[in-house]
Amino acid sequence: MGYRMYDLIEKKRDGGVLSSPEIKWMIDEYTAGRIPDYQMSAMTMAIFFKGLDKEETLNLTMAMTESGDTVDLSGISGIKVDKHSTGGVGDKTSIALAPLVASVGVHVAKMSGRGLGHTGGTIDKLESFPGFNTSITMDAFLKQVNDIGIAIMGQTKDLVPADKKLYALRDVTATVDQLSLIASSIMSKKLASGADAIVLDVKCGSGAFMKDLVSARALAEEMTELGRGAGRKVTAFITDMDEPLGLAVGNALEVKEAIDTLRGKGPEDFTELVMSLGAAMVHFAGIADSEEEARVLLSKSIENGDAINKLKEFVKAQGGDERAVDDMALLPSAKYEYELAADTDGFVESIACSEVGTASLLLGGGRLTKEDEIDLSTGIIMKKKKGMPVKKGEALALIYYNDEEKKEAAAARLKAAFKIGRVKPETNDIILGRI
Ligand code: URA
Repeated sequence: MGYRMYDLIEKKRDGGVLSSPEIKWMIDEYTAGRIPDYQMSAMTMAIFFKGLDKEETLNLTMAMTESGDTVDLSGISGIKVDKHSTGGVGDKTSIALAPLVASVGVHVAKMSGRGLGHTGGTIDKLESFPGFNTSITMDAFLKQVNDIGIAIMGQTKDLVPADKKLYALRDVTATVDQLSLIASSIMSKKLASGADAIVLDVKCGSGAFMKDLVSARALAEEMTELGRGAGRKVTAFITDMDEPLGLAVGNALEVKEAIDTLRGKGPEDFTELVMSLGAAMVHFAGIADSEEEARVLLSKSIENGDAINKLKEFVKAQGGDERAVDDMALLPSAKYEYELAADTDGFVESIACSEVGTASLLLGGGRLTKEDEIDLSTGIIMKKKKGMPVKKGEALALIYYNDEEKKEAAAARLKAAFKIGRVKPETNDIILGRI
């Protein structure tokens, strides 16, 4: 059935509801290059103002999911569970979580992205292990999950091509920030990746897309409904991103923190997040009857070394140097360290989280354009987090750097991110809500 894009734009502009065949046609034609960007821009702007109802959002998600390759995980036994985070500063969760849940028997077949923004994505971070290969073939990926229970690869070129085009367009037409468009963009990629069950980590706060609890909950609900509408098991956690997650921000530094966490020596907030998401994944996989029971399994795996051994097995299977798990000096490390000191006494009242991310980016740890090379060694270790007392001259953070000029720019940014006050502020739990 053919439509005219003009008519569909007009319909949405006037607040109408697009039918399932209309949405499918639009996405297929746009992906094939037969609808020009200027018409799709008008459509995304019309959606921005008039919204999509639940059925339209599900239809859009399914049309996007079907716009390219979908991964068939049926050759892997058991319930395949995926996890997705909406992204934030210091988010190294997958690097600890994936081996941890795999160590108790969950099959993790995960596709991850590279980062555009403050730090790299999971794929960049994993490349901190010398030799680690994230561009493995689909056959090798599936075989590895069957052999050792875990594999992580970069998203293939043909996974949801509609989203690649649409996201790039939204990015330059001020239409990223629309709930249904965000939810369909994320969920189409998750659905195409083939897992039976999905655990979502929706970040909330100054370092996240969603700045407040109301909008984070709305996104979490929308994504959960989409996943369930597509026949998958889904749960969502809303988690704090008002300050960096854990203490490390920057690629190899975050990998080191993930390793410490798998040894039971991670920061409290990060450990709690990994255990909560992990318990949901283990429960979804049918390995434990409740999340409480799942937590016990995960704690045992950390204590008896299974978790850290699974990380080594995983790194080795993907060509990486697994000795770096025991000898972290084999991971990239920056030449210099600088201590950012407080210039007044008080309490850390707030930390402008995205500014910490920007400071890490300025050190070389993130990308401004897709072509930029990342410096995996640089970053920041937070010495003070929200609510902690500070004395003048005490370290707020350590900066790891290779270039003096970049360090100066990052230090100025980081200093401005810390607000020191006289009164101890309320602090948030890492888990703010659950759906
Ligand atoms: N991440 C995505 O993948 N898509 C969006 O629209 C926003 C964040």
